[in-house]
Amino acid sequence: MPDTQGSIHGQWSSRFVFILAAVGSAVGLGNIWKFPYITGENGGGAFVLVYLICIALIGVPIMMAEILMGRRGRRSPINTMRALVAEEKAHPAWRWLGWLGVVTGLLILSYYSVIAGWALAYVFRAGAGLFTGANADAASALFKDLLGSPESMLAWHTIFMAMTGAVVARGVRGGLEKAVTVLMPALFALLVVLVLYALYEGDFGRGFAFLFHPDISKVFQHCELLESGVKSCRFNGEPLLIALGHAFFTLSLGMGAIMVYGSYMPGNASIARATLTIVVADTTAALLAGLAIFPIVFANGLEPASGPGLVFQTLPIAFGAMPGGRFFGMLFFVLLVFAAWTSAISLIEPAVAWLVENRGMRRVSATFGVGVLAWFLGIGSVLSFNLWSGESFQLLGKTWFDLLDYLTANILLPLGGLFIALFAGWVMSRSASRGELRLGDGLGYRTWRFLVRYVSPALVVIVFFNAIGLI
Ligand code: PFF
Ligand code: NA
Repeated sequence: MPDTQGSIHGQWSSRFVFILAAVGSAVGLGNIWKFPYITGENGGGAFVLVYLICIALIGVPIMMAEILMGRRGRRSPINTMRALVAEEKAHPAWRWLGWLGVVTGLLILSYYSVIAGWALAYVFRAGAGLFTGANADAASALFKDLLGSPESMLAWHTIFMAMTGAVVARGVRGGLEKAVTVLMPALFALLVVLVLYALYEGDFGRGFAFLFHPDISKVFQHCELLESGVKSCRFNGEPLLIALGHAFFTLSLGMGAIMVYGSYMPGNASIARATLTIVVADTTAALLAGLAIFPIVFANGLEPASGPGLVFQTLPIAFGAMPGGRFFGMLFFVLLVFAAWTSAISLIEPAVAWLVENRGMRRVSATFGVGVLAWFLGIGSVLSFNLWSGESFQLLGKTWFDLLDYLTANILLPLGGLFIALFAGWVMSRSASRGELRLGDGLGYRTWRFLVRYVSPALVVIVFFNAIGLI
């Protein structure tokens, strides 16, 4: 397969655009909404450390693997897998990997859109001046107000899904290129403003220590007070799985989103350099969000482990108190919506690209079909925060939203990533992967191959086994 030949869906106009699109996919709710709240729920520093290790040892090599597979296959992930399987004469079962990704993407999109709907709702709340002078109680009442109204959550979810469909229907190149070039840098700038606010007005010392001081016993030990009054502690591996899963989620890995973008990447661009840029941008966004949020959490006596509402209950306090907060608050949530938008587009693109390639559907109809399906599944997540939050609607102690989030982020993405690593490391020939990566045969290439063959798969398997109690 000559890699000068492009994809039928078009090709990015330059290598820079690929990086922007991939950063657009990576930076999203995962960084600003999810990273702070799971860090809060999992005790802070030691969790962050494990997450960073997962990014470096698993995220980086698997991202390179996904990009190189996509660029070599030049098709939607399902057909890319088919093409690579043919090229390498691999077992046909590998083709399932493409399907797994499409299903995972749809499941994630269904609840991602609901949370993005919260951000949309907050644009208008900020604009209406509802944050002004808000203390912790007012901010949390404002959030509860939203959760208590399934109708308005459903409306925002519908609007966000329609926005996503509108861009995808026209082909990812048009809308995305512009959105990412201007809006991503603006989001970063605003995060810096928030960190500065946290530095002056929040409990920055405590927030910083919470994020970066790894207290192993706090995160990985689960202690109970027995009836006899004795305290009994055991190792708790759950945070490991959550950190691992989040490394995949935040980098958009394990489901073909980066693969499909890689398939539109010009053949002459450096995969290693692109990966580094994407990973640095994504990690910076998450850490900035953490540095903005936790000082405010501690200064206002809020609970770090308060769950998915954390960001929505803390940032309004900051915006409500800072000069120009009405404008900044609105702008921030607008940019958050854009960040979520560019991620949602990449969640739906593998499915749409496949329908266009194999079913001969028009992009518009394919997008509509997939969008409606994800929208419908999203209703379960809307109701998880109100009508269906009760125990009688739960399975394994989790609501529909919790269950989908857990299944996709902690199981399906790492599983997809594991197989991607195994395929790129063991099934693809050296000449194929070396040819795409263009790293020569030096230390760089050999390090990548070692990580993708041994280290990343082994770590994923160990964490999985630990989670199901085998080790
Ligand atoms: N990486 C996105 C975020 O951090 O918000 C979420 C995401 C997008 C996950 C695309 C997976 C994906 F394929
Ligand atoms: Na991310």
